[in-house]
Amino acid sequence: MDTSGAQEYDRLQELKTFDETKAGVKGLVDSGLQKIPQIFVRPAEELAKDLNYKRAQIEVPVIDLGDLEKTHRHKQIVEEVRIASETCGFFQVVNHGISLNVLDEMLDAIQKFNEQDVEEKKKYYTRDNTRRVRFNSNFDLFTSRTASWRDSLAISFSDPDQINSDDLPDLCRKSVIEYSKLVNNLGNILFGLLSEALGLEPEHLRNMDCSEGHRLTCHYYPACPEPELTLGITKHSDPGFLTVLLQNQIDGLQIFFQNQWVDVQPIPGAFVINIGDLLQLVSNGKFRSNKHRVVANRLGPRISIARFFSGPIHMDKIFYGPTKELISEENPPEYKEVLLSDYLMKFITSGLDENFLVNYCKR
Ligand code: OGA
Ligand code: NI
Repeated sequence: MDTSGAQEYDRLQELKTFDETKAGVKGLVDSGLQKIPQIFVRPAEELAKDLNYKRAQIEVPVIDLGDLEKTHRHKQIVEEVRIASETCGFFQVVNHGISLNVLDEMLDAIQKFNEQDVEEKKKYYTRDNTRRVRFNSNFDLFTSRTASWRDSLAISFSDPDQINSDDLPDLCRKSVIEYSKLVNNLGNILFGLLSEALGLEPEHLRNMDCSEGHRLTCHYYPACPEPELTLGITKHSDPGFLTVLLQNQIDGLQIFFQNQWVDVQPIPGAFVINIGDLLQLVSNGKFRSNKHRVVANRLGPRISIARFFSGPIHMDKIFYGPTKELISEENPPEYKEVLLSDYLMKFITSGLDENFLVNYCKR
């Protein structure tokens, strides 16, 4: 008898039952459970492999963006951005011009959304990717190997000025609108610095519409009773150009660098910036889109807000390939040109487990 088949069936049932509660992981925690359900438990071989990695002493670079307009400092900042982007692909920024107040309000609004009356929250629960506001637990629940200990609110629209605010939940509408505009400005500043760090004109990446298309994913990672058995988000790289992430003060984010897991320490008021697969592709491998994950934590909730700069998803016939200026005889193109809409659809349907850039874009 094929017992593996029988197990699969049970798993699917469990996934469905969990999904149908529409209450997410927070709902499980609220029910008072002390052991995490099987669907969240990572396979034994994966847990064993994790024990082999030593904890790194490396720190993710912190870049001070104050005095960016001063010529001398500007050059240094570009250099710091270049080094970080070519190595671990992650850095934090401080003195970026967005007040602590705005950041705290945004985190608070997302906490309130998740902690409101569950019946109210259920109205937003969906897996329909055409909806602009989607609350669910694990966008890849039915395709991933193991479910992760988090719920997410995803918000996507083509332009922050055009956001139909009626679609947004009352509890976070004002904060989302304000935050979105400010984080877009910051994104544009970063695209300028990244262009210069590649030796291109400051406008280069902005002119490629990297900052078009607005995708905000707000994660809520409840406290976990058995954090060593599961993850908050499985190991992956981000498919877009750039991610600007705000996190609260609960640890969990780790990047995989030099064969070790490196903790990204929360710094009040800082943003975590990381290079995504598309920027690795257009930079022809010069910038690194690094794998990362979030470990589960006995403490919680951990809240993080990711602004994914993934290009103009809403437009068709947008192609991205290695930048001509960065290609030469010594540096032949490493990647194929990709059609943005196809590329992102492949990512959404395949989930986080794939080695996406290599499988789909390598020449
Ligand atoms: C992501 C991600 C990290 C975090 O959403 O892609 O890596 O800290 N999030 O939530
Ligand atoms: Ni990510």
